Amino acid sequence: MRKIFFLAYLTMLTIFGYSTVQAQDINFNESWKFYNAEAKGAEQVTFNDNNWRELNLPHDWAIEGPFDIKYNARAGGLPFHGTGWYRKHFKMNADAKGKVVRMEFEGAMYDGHVWVNGEFIGSRPYGYIGFEFDISKYLKYDGSDNVVAVRLRPQDLSSRWYPGAGLYRSVWLKIDNPIHVGQWGTYITTPTVTKDLAVVQNETVVVNKSKNKVKVNIKQAYFSPQGKLVMSVDEDTNIEANSSYTSELFCNIENPERWDTETPNLYSVTTTITQNGNVVDVYKTKIGLRSISYTSEGFFLNGKKVRFNGVCLHHDNGALGSAVYRRADERKLQIMKSMGVNAIRTSHNPPSRELLELCDELGLMVQDEAFDVWKMEKVPNGYNVFFDEWGERDLKDMIKRDRNHPSIVMWSIGNEIIEQKDAKNGWRVAKKLNAYCKEMDPTRPTSAGFNHSPAPYDNNMAQQVDIAGMNYKPLGYSEIHKKYPQLPLCGTETSSCTSSRGVYHLPIEKYQTHKSLHVTSYDLIGPVWAYPPDIEFHYQEQNPFIMGEFIWTGFDYLGEPTPYGGRDNSTNGYWNDDWPSRSSYFGAVDLCGFPKDRFYLYQSQWTSERMIHLLPHWNWKGMEGKDIPVHCYTNCDEAELFVNGKSMGKRVKGKDLTEIKVVFNNYESNTFQSKYRLSWNVPYKAGNIKVVGYKDDKVVQEEQIFTAGKPIKVSLSVDRKEIHANGEDLAYVTIRIEDKNGNLCPEATNLVNFTVKGAGKLIAVDNGDQTSVESFQGNERKAFSGMCLAVLKSSKIAGEIKLIAKSKSLKSDLIIVKTK
Ligand code: GAL
Repeated sequence: MRKIFFLAYLTMLTIFGYSTVQAQDINFNESWKFYNAEAKGAEQVTFNDNNWRELNLPHDWAIEGPFDIKYNARAGGLPFHGTGWYRKHFKMNADAKGKVVRMEFEGAMYDGHVWVNGEFIGSRPYGYIGFEFDISKYLKYDGSDNVVAVRLRPQDLSSRWYPGAGLYRSVWLKIDNPIHVGQWGTYITTPTVTKDLAVVQNETVVVNKSKNKVKVNIKQAYFSPQGKLVMSVDEDTNIEANSSYTSELFCNIENPERWDTETPNLYSVTTTITQNGNVVDVYKTKIGLRSISYTSEGFFLNGKKVRFNGVCLHHDNGALGSAVYRRADERKLQIMKSMGVNAIRTSHNPPSRELLELCDELGLMVQDEAFDVWKMEKVPNGYNVFFDEWGERDLKDMIKRDRNHPSIVMWSIGNEIIEQKDAKNGWRVAKKLNAYCKEMDPTRPTSAGFNHSPAPYDNNMAQQVDIAGMNYKPLGYSEIHKKYPQLPLCGTETSSCTSSRGVYHLPIEKYQTHKSLHVTSYDLIGPVWAYPPDIEFHYQEQNPFIMGEFIWTGFDYLGEPTPYGGRDNSTNGYWNDDWPSRSSYFGAVDLCGFPKDRFYLYQSQWTSERMIHLLPHWNWKGMEGKDIPVHCYTNCDEAELFVNGKSMGKRVKGKDLTEIKVVFNNYESNTFQSKYRLSWNVPYKAGNIKVVGYKDDKVVQEEQIFTAGKPIKVSLSVDRKEIHANGEDLAYVTIRIEDKNGNLCPEATNLVNFTVKGAGKLIAVDNGDQTSVESFQGNERKAFSGMCLAVLKSSKIAGEIKLIAKSKSLKSDLIIVKTK
């Protein structure tokens, strides 16, 4: 956790021309210079960067586009590779001399090299891990200019998805006394947590960078979720010159307010280091008191069996690219929670700090995953190139960085690692990586996602981790369990069903690809290893020892437009045959965050509050009298469909089955009788369809879809009417094209134009169409299936942001967002 303001030393420090109270950690995101190409000598102080673009971090240069077929569609069709340089000028006050000054990068995509005042400081290839350097000795403290220069070199064919490019996470300047808590310096665990008692163990590394042996007091104070001091322990100790000391203290907290998915209570711990009566460092850590355990029969949180209703998520936030915005991650997780999700798999790399903090706060369990590859490549310039040199360090750093998060319930050492095939050595590498995890954190189980079966179980690789992750093998659950009854199993990647929001192709067919480059939303289509969610629900039910599932994926993401652009999910070369298809179809939610139908299928299975959802839309001009399959996703007992007021009959959930077409690896039948969806075939007639949901014979839910008339107006709504005036908060505006009665025009593609005034700006637009090559950063967007999205960012001045949306021959609309 980030350190708090440093109250004992309220000295003034001049950074970049203005004075600020000396904080331990100074956010270093503002006023960078950027150049998107090789620049000879750019590490030198005297280099002239006057003509470079000025910007603030976090920044992803690739999301600026343009989309082009010359870039790899499997990685988003965006220019993420090449060289990018960042420079920042800053001044240090004389007061900082003699202190320890570190620069921390929370992530630099990709292969970052850093210079301070012309001196090479170090490098870090893996773009997903944070790193810091002690730069004290390279700085000038006399008020003259200091320059940090960063060179990034993301390679083509280095990722199977869109990685983004740039300083896409925060940068910090950390100024400390020579005696301070080290990087990621606290490690706080809870060896026992019951309803009555939590035993809290705290290991804190205190660094003494001074030339003298020092005597200090180390105090750990624990505050309840309400901020009340509940316990405090301390010790006096000596620390040798130029060395560090690990303080080990424990305490008992009675009647703990436990962390779990319903009540994600967080305690805070303040570590205070005092020397001769002076406070020399204060460091804060957030923790949650909870117990986890697992057996081959399931996973337990605070002693209760929980199933993972999980989603895999990539790190990008759609139109914002990979640049980290706390609000974008928060919204993403809130949407997932509303689908019934209780767990996230950070496929396939260490996520942002913000994402983990939010999972702590929102009560989402996390599988924190380190790698998509080890030594054997999936793409030629991938992490495989760095694995030998950096694998151990990156894995250990991920755990060191993340191990205080109560949300994290397991570590993953890798996804679908090619070494599964290497019967001789695969298990040995897994064994080593597993041991690194245990060395860093023996309190959590380890896992890995295996897509082969039975090879990794038979060749001793799966046995190296605590929980074997089975990817896309619902038919194999019982067989593997029978053969290896002691091995805990989890569906770490499931379904991989694809769809385009609001698109329905009739008649329902199980096709591989469609000429529209979209995929029908009847939730049936996927690549050869994929299957509809219904199949996974069924096999999970049949095999209750499986810990649950992590669907592929919660949200659509940039890149990997399977089933287009190649039917495999590796990127050995360019796969642009189906251009402009350029982003994933796998999400239950589209790239804008708009739910697809599949969202409701999961909601019907994972939530208990009554819900009902109907598909498709009811605009089928030309199909009059022809049968339209109507599907309903609900957790009600029964549902009754009405077409233009006439009942088409009731269907009973769990009893009335829907036959769906299913073709995937090793599945012998061509159909599946699904009890998870209700259906009717009804002749089309314009008007409306309505579904009524019953519970114990009482009407509890209703949904109605009208045949929309012609587009008449643009209609805006916003996720939050008031946001923070902090220069980084976001408001997400949904734009719908509606008819005169306010019905969504489900096929509208009208171009919408945006004007923004006041205390913020428009930073992104999107419509969720996986084939659109319109810029994410323009001030206009075509609607897709009747909808599009505009993302507003606040400035640092409080006021109002006004967004006006116009579209030719439609009535326009505006929305006002307050910033405080
Ligand atoms: C898996 C892989 C994921 C993604 C998915 C698509 O095999 O682990 O990263 O490619 O397939 O179905």
